[in-house]
Amino acid sequence: MRRKVGVRTSVMTMLLALSIAVPLVFAADISQEQTAKYILATVKAFRTVYVKGIIEQAKKAGIKPNENWAKDDHAIMLPAQFVKAAGAELKDFELGLIGLTPIYKSNLPKTQAETDALKKMMANPDQKVLTFADGNQFKGLAADFAIVQSCADCHNAHPDSPKKDFKQGDLMGAIVVRFNK
Ligand code: HEC
Repeated sequence: MRRKVGVRTSVMTMLLALSIAVPLVFAADISQEQTAKYILATVKAFRTVYVKGIIEQAKKAGIKPNENWAKDDHAIMLPAQFVKAAGAELKDFELGLIGLTPIYKSNLPKTQAETDALKKMMANPDQKVLTFADGNQFKGLAADFAIVQSCADCHNAHPDSPKKDFKQGDLMGAIVVRFNK
């Protein structure tokens, strides 16, 4: 009898623990996914404003985006440099840009899971955001399209670019966010 009560109590305790733990696990996953999505949406919005608002306006005054902008009084940073510079200001998580055919190899995906996710996105560009766990980190990718012709033109003309046939509207890579679980 005592044993039965013991078993019943431990089963009840286990069920109780599970009923608390399972929703907690799901809640944690949802909030990491949601966090990644909010960060990506915000970065993308700022990046779009930089390209369509600031760069396009500055061009009218003869100021153009240039990789070596710091040495040129009539140049401002590239859209990618804008995102990477903001990422360099962050301490609690990583922000960057990746591509499968990057100008610099440092912009290749950092892990197999990132490569797989970016390939999946390239195969189906309608999937504009992807989030996933990768080891001890949680990550998110947001599709980065050639929203203006100059995105494609500059990459095609860059001597280090392995891909020379980008067109306006193409998916060129992704903004990536990485944070510890
Ligand atoms: C004037 C040239 C230029 C323009 C315009 C430009 N890029 Fe880039 N882009 C670069 C360079 C150079 C890099 C590498 C910068 C670095 O990592 O320091 C880069 C990096 C990237 C990357 C990271 C992967 C890779 O290919 O290296 C993506 C994605 C990207 N650009 C997309 C875009 C998009 C989208 C636009 C338009 C909104 C754009 N670029 C406009 C020159 C340019």
